[in-house]
Amino acid sequence: MRPFEQRAQTIIRRLPPHALAAEIGVLRGQVSECVLQNTDASLIMVDSWLPSDQQPERYKATKDQHAFDPAEIVSKHKREALARVHRFRGRAQIKEMSSVEAASQVEDCTLDLVFIDADHSYEGVREDIAAWFPKVKASGWIGGHDYQNPDARFCFGVDRAVDGWIEETGCTLETDLNFTWWARV
Ligand SMILES: C[S@@+](CC[C@H](N)C(=O)[O-])C[C@H]1O[C@@H](n2cnc3c(N)ncnc32)[C@H](O)[C@@H]1O
Repeated sequence: MRPFEQRAQTIIRRLPPHALAAEIGVLRGQVSECVLQNTDASLIMVDSWLPSDQQPERYKATKDQHAFDPAEIVSKHKREALARVHRFRGRAQIKEMSSVEAASQVEDCTLDLVFIDADHSYEGVREDIAAWFPKVKASGWIGGHDYQNPDARFCFGVDRAVDGWIEETGCTLETDLNFTWWARV
């Protein structure tokens, strides 16, 4: 399995039938496509698709390559994502906006699962967890990518943000394929 298929698998096996889920940070839509193809879930796909000159400094400080993508590459990613999920358009809802803005448009306690994979800075992940945790139903799942990723090229704040949130809430942390983290709400 390729890494994006592994990430998708961690989502797929946590979804109940007819689930409503959200992926925060979509990029090219590879994970979204895999989830939509292998489940009957509906998926809210959130990505701001902003070029590097509009990205916050805290995101660039993580050294994530996608914080440095120029406008033409970002447009290509967006076109690719839209094309990948076109055939599922009844079940895919695309929100081209910031994570926090998108969360404000979703009712509390309505999602079966949220997967956070956007701005990997400490502040970014904390903000995304704070914005999306209330959207998840009781016994739903919140999770994300790049927890305990040992790749020294990155300065991700994911571990600190997730560990802090786990300590505050007392939720139980699970790790899964390809550096994903998960907690049942
Ligand atoms: C690591 S990629 C997502 C990869 C995708 N989840 C996958 O597994 O293939 C991160 C994406 O998050 C988006 N992003 C970063 N900060 C964001 C924010 N604050 N709100 C919405 N999207 C954001 C970027 O545009 C980028 O496409």
